[in-house]
Amino acid sequence: MFQENLTFWLYDSGSIYPIWSNLAEVPAFEKDNVMASSASPSMENHWMPFSANRDFKQDPKMFSRAEGVWYYDREGKKILDGSSGLFTTPAGHSRREIAEAVYKQLSELDFTPSFLRSHDKSFELSTKIAAFMPEGLDKIFFVNSGSEAVDTAMKMALNYHRIRGQGNRQMFVSRERAYHGVNFGGVALSGMVNNRRAFGSALPSAVHMRHTHIPENKFQVGEGEHGADLAEDLARIIANYGGENIAAVFVEPIAGSTGTLVPPKGYLKRLRELCTQHGILLVFDEVITGFGRTGRSFATHSFNVKPDLITMAKAITNGAQPMAAVAASREIHDTIVNAAPENVTEFFHGYTWSAHPAACAASLATLKIYEDERLFERAAQMSAYFLEGLFSLKDLPVVTDIRGYGMMGGVDVAPMGGPGARGYQWQKRMFESGLHIKTTGDAAVVAPPFVMETAHIDQMIDIMRTTLKAF
Ligand SMILES: Cc1ncc(COP(=O)(O)O)c(C=O)c1O
Repeated sequence: MFQENLTFWLYDSGSIYPIWSNLAEVPAFEKDNVMASSASPSMENHWMPFSANRDFKQDPKMFSRAEGVWYYDREGKKILDGSSGLFTTPAGHSRREIAEAVYKQLSELDFTPSFLRSHDKSFELSTKIAAFMPEGLDKIFFVNSGSEAVDTAMKMALNYHRIRGQGNRQMFVSRERAYHGVNFGGVALSGMVNNRRAFGSALPSAVHMRHTHIPENKFQVGEGEHGADLAEDLARIIANYGGENIAAVFVEPIAGSTGTLVPPKGYLKRLRELCTQHGILLVFDEVITGFGRTGRSFATHSFNVKPDLITMAKAITNGAQPMAAVAASREIHDTIVNAAPENVTEFFHGYTWSAHPAACAASLATLKIYEDERLFERAAQMSAYFLEGLFSLKDLPVVTDIRGYGMMGGVDVAPMGGPGARGYQWQKRMFESGLHIKTTGDAAVVAPPFVMETAHIDQMIDIMRTTLKAF
């Protein structure tokens, strides 16, 4: 039963504020009180992920609250969100429908063991997600992060082949400049040396194709005309290592984290052909591209290429709860599940928080918003305006390339004093000018919420331009 007078507390800056004491009071959402804290918390203990901790603690960039397309800092200054948080929040921030669904869920059923037990919403959600998938890719395995989704997909591939008597398929193929998360499997797949070099060599075996960011496609909107032949790297790897030893090829349909690298025309189709020909599974890591970012529900539809496994995360809950998933083909699922004797676990994998009730509730509320507000269609419609704005930065001498597809784009700036130094300074300047954009190295990864209006896009591009001109 829903507990009417459960009290929630938010700890902010050393003070404790009651948020609401029962659902009837929720509509007020005392956001102004939440941010009205005076004392700064100690920065001694939080070791921040993927951050320059020493610089951050000297010059913190903190958010206190968020609403719609805006973040607010501790002084109440508005900061436009040009990266949808971390590609997580296309429907805009602090959506009441999601907050209420999570509150209600936690009040009714806070936790269900994910092994041997479940709850209705996990099945309801899997049916809804399956509806976005290509035909037959409709078995949904829930996890809690993109990294977990990637490692789960790797295990599915290994397990599938082993059951079919092809246990020799232990190798993976991915790409330079790929990002597949930070668990050991995903690190092996990733094509970013800094993510790997500190952690030794005990990683799953992965060989990397070349990336598709080639000079011939500079300043190309959408898919490049050049570079489909880069897919032949897979043919070379197959010839060199033996196709029969390769379990799966992992690619992000559009490589997001390293600056929106859009595939050349025909490239993904050719990967599919080669995988099919050699019995290799094709995995699309759609952790960023899933849920409307490309203007369709998933990039598999935008590029009309069907993989065997799809990973997804981030926008699955509009960023409001940690959740991710893998969609597996019936063939993979049935092979693994039907191989086990009755009453025995079939796939020895899963997490305590797989299909957590609060995450399922958040995701169901999120998918309802996407549907009710037709946000994937809106992403498709806003794309042209967004990309036109982004590509207008081309005239700035410091800009060395721009790429874009749907509601994601990448802007490269010329390095200054070492790789990544200018990109790092740029994101700080943008923040100070009221714009949050994620940079990786010297590339800005722009991914506006789909609910942005054209005026917000204009403002975003203006700030990008002004801050770039100052270099
Ligand atoms: C394509 C891709 N895969 C995996 C991940 C890892 O996701 P997470 O940070 O949720 O573990 C990311 C994160 O950005 C990603 O972009």
